[in-house]
Amino acid sequence: MIRLSPRLAAVAALAGSGGSVIDVGTDHGTVPVWFVENGCFRRVAASDVNAGPLERAKSTAGERGALGKIDFYLSDGLKAVPGSFETVVIAGMGGETMVDILSACPWIDRARLILQPQSKLAELTSWLAGAGFVCQEAALVEDAGKAYLAFRAQTGEGGFDLLRALTGDPLLPRCLERERARLQRALEGLQRGARETGAAYEKLARQQKLVENAIREVSTWQR
Ligand SMILES: C[S@@+](CC[C@H](N)C(=O)[O-])C[C@H]1O[C@@H](n2cnc3c(N)ncnc32)[C@H](O)[C@@H]1O
Repeated sequence: MIRLSPRLAAVAALAGSGGSVIDVGTDHGTVPVWFVENGCFRRVAASDVNAGPLERAKSTAGERGALGKIDFYLSDGLKAVPGSFETVVIAGMGGETMVDILSACPWIDRARLILQPQSKLAELTSWLAGAGFVCQEAALVEDAGKAYLAFRAQTGEGGFDLLRALTGDPLLPRCLERERARLQRALEGLQRGARETGAAYEKLARQQKLVENAIREVSTWQR
């Protein structure tokens, strides 16, 4: 069985099994090969916007005897991918790129999304909330000394509550503290440059308030 890093193992676990799945921005291609080797999806596809990473994915599949079992697409997001998929995996990309990909796809509201954003989480979750997605399950995972977030979302009732989906996750308090410290440093940087007014400062201050509220809420769960 092809080995997945802890980050990608969390992504694969959230994907579970089902009919059809596409790994968007696949690069090395280990995730679709893992899906094939585990037989958990009827149809497996992989796409990348760049030819080099797509070739890398094909060669991973070739080495593992999975070449004929995965459909490969050179595509910006899902734009050049024919048909629709029940599960869409996007991992290792910035949240704003994910929003571009998701918002350009006409059938995305019918898909289960497995997302593992590397940045711009607030932009991504606010787009998902606005598009009617609910966070069904989420996990934090430590990989090579860094913490990563992955979650599954689908349209439905109840709103997008990532924090609720992370209830009880042992890494959550530490991740929130780290985020508060990161935002604090960024705010202090702006203050040093006498830029403590303006949109950038206000945005960071708003995010810091959200993180502080989250820290307070999480501390009540632990009582
Ligand atoms: C950092 S790699 C992540 C690879 C893998 N998904 C993972 O999580 O390990 C990001 C990949 O996404 C691809 N990518 C970036 N923007 C994309 C887009 N709009 N559509 C499809 N692929 C994209 C890049 O070419 C690159 O191969």
